[in-house]
Amino acid sequence: MSGEIIEKIATLKRQRRAVVLAHNYQIGEVQDIADFTGDSLGLSIEASKTDAATIVFCGVRFMAETAAILSPDKTVLLPDATAGCPMADMIDAKQLADLKKRHPNALVVCYVNTTAEVKALSDYCCTSSNALQLVRRLPEDREIIFVPDRNLGQYIIDQTGRDMILWPGYCLTHARITTEEVAAARAKFPDAVVMSHPECSSEVRAASDELLSTGQMLKFAGMSDYRRFIVVTEVGIIHSLKKACPDKTFIPVSDAAACRNMKKITLEKVLWSLEDMQYRITVPEDVRVRARLSLDRMLEVTPT
Ligand code: 13P
Ligand code: SF4
Repeated sequence: MSGEIIEKIATLKRQRRAVVLAHNYQIGEVQDIADFTGDSLGLSIEASKTDAATIVFCGVRFMAETAAILSPDKTVLLPDATAGCPMADMIDAKQLADLKKRHPNALVVCYVNTTAEVKALSDYCCTSSNALQLVRRLPEDREIIFVPDRNLGQYIIDQTGRDMILWPGYCLTHARITTEEVAAARAKFPDAVVMSHPECSSEVRAASDELLSTGQMLKFAGMSDYRRFIVVTEVGIIHSLKKACPDKTFIPVSDAAACRNMKKITLEKVLWSLEDMQYRITVPEDVRVRARLSLDRMLEVTPT
């Protein structure tokens, strides 16, 4: 059955001149039919340079919106219109505008996990791959507002020594991971290295060996001499890691760390999306033009 769906997707992809982009948290079968799988930064770069006419974005809404901002001449499709990011919805444009009024001299850095309207009110956008490099470049005499992830924000403060005004947003999926789970996995696999996403709580970050974006986890696992890795992030990455390093072992710290929204995309929905050219993600032009500035600044900063 899935073989039939995969064939139909391939035919429609040719007809629609479509490319399928998938985040590392997507279910395995969706990752496997994608033309490109990656982290938020890699997917944004891919969306900005593709010459396809249609982008099917297997991820969540802010990712498809980012693709629509970067490639306004392309049709951007999100196979499930309800696949959102609860953290991105924890701050809206009015809340950010109010915060900016209270700190009129501050530069605003937003995580890519934000709505297009919030990006349009921000000076810089970043992902967890390039946040440190981006913040280190900012002038010392300016206050910095960072939205919406307080965990990534605190990680940046700890690493760069730059004080920042943080918004109290967080990822519900990463918040489910506890230090007890990390300790239990370490006790079971004492030879393994613990690699965690900076969206985890400060306690979990402190209990980790490496703090990495999903793309950086893939690179680290490939280059590292470790044979076993305790993976402290959304479970979808295990599929990408196993595929990239079939000779190494990856242990998910918690099966509860599954993002419901990322898991809404299925092979069937990718097929329907291409058949019906649904659900089209667009951004009003005035918002798009302003949001584009903060995204261009994000794309200028390559992670080390
Ligand atoms: P990265 O893949 O950029 O590390 O992002 C994680 C995430 O939570 C995306 O929603
Ligand atoms: Fe949002 Fe967290 Fe899901 Fe990423 S894993 S899309 S940050 S809720």
